[in-house]
Amino acid sequence: MYTYEILQVENQNDILVVTINRPKALNALNKQTMNELKTFFTLDAPTQKNIKGIVLTGGGDKAFVAGADISEFTSLDATGAKNMAVNGQDIFFSIERFEKPVVAAVNGFALGGGCELAMACHMRIANPKSRFGQPEVNLGILPGYGGTQRLVQLIGKGKAIELMTTADMINGEEALKLGLVNHVVEAGQEVAKAIEIIEKIATKAPLAVAGVIRAVNAYFEEGRNGYEAEIAEFTRSVETDDFKEGASAFLEKRTANFKNS
Ligand code: COA
Repeated sequence: MYTYEILQVENQNDILVVTINRPKALNALNKQTMNELKTFFTLDAPTQKNIKGIVLTGGGDKAFVAGADISEFTSLDATGAKNMAVNGQDIFFSIERFEKPVVAAVNGFALGGGCELAMACHMRIANPKSRFGQPEVNLGILPGYGGTQRLVQLIGKGKAIELMTTADMINGEEALKLGLVNHVVEAGQEVAKAIEIIEKIATKAPLAVAGVIRAVNAYFEEGRNGYEAEIAEFTRSVETDDFKEGASAFLEKRTANFKNS
């Protein structure tokens, strides 16, 4: 059993709703928050075999996460910066590689490390007034938690460079048009929409869902051939009981009863 000071973890019908709760600092990612995210995504959540997925959101009604905690930047030197980026990227990889859906419910500002955190999740839900941006150049730095890579993956090179060099913020509707978010819903409904998506995914074959996540991630991993990863995942999927069940259920015109095996 893990305990957290900043993260609030609530199990809602086997979906873990995780709230980063430092609303007075707009949920900025200080060291403590990053340590707790690491514990949660590398030690805690992976051992909870029955969960359907994870929703990540921000405490209060203003922010998802307004970035890395700038108050911790004053003592930062090159060694500290490198450690910070390596550690942050590792944590965000553990989110991206989590084998059940992780959905960001972006209920306000998602800036800097907050935008990077949302992008490490598999999907993003926003409201029309959510604000996304990578304003690091205002501070004389650049994204360090994978933002230069994932923003390009999600919205393409030209727009990504524009957003990261101008520090412009975009709202939920603009983010939807660019493909940065999956859905825009009324403010306050972000978590509900994320839960709705995870519940739908939970009706599908879990091992196949995990295979999709691994194969898609392979597309972006250096030195890996995503098509070969897909062949391996597809091959593995036909050896599962759930494949037999899914195919039989279709032919027998009934709902499949998947067993995660
Ligand atoms: N790190 C540390 N503290 C932060 C923070 C961050 N990234 N973002 C906001 N806060 C704190 C503010 O310092 C303020 O604290 P205070 O009440 O003790 O003064 C509190 O959160 C509320 O923020 P405030 O700036 O007063 O709210 P606002 O509505 O006027 O502006 C933002 C909201 C998000 C536009 C503004 O806070 C901002 O630009 N934050 C920094 C964003 C950023 O550069 N992120 C990338 C970091 S690499």
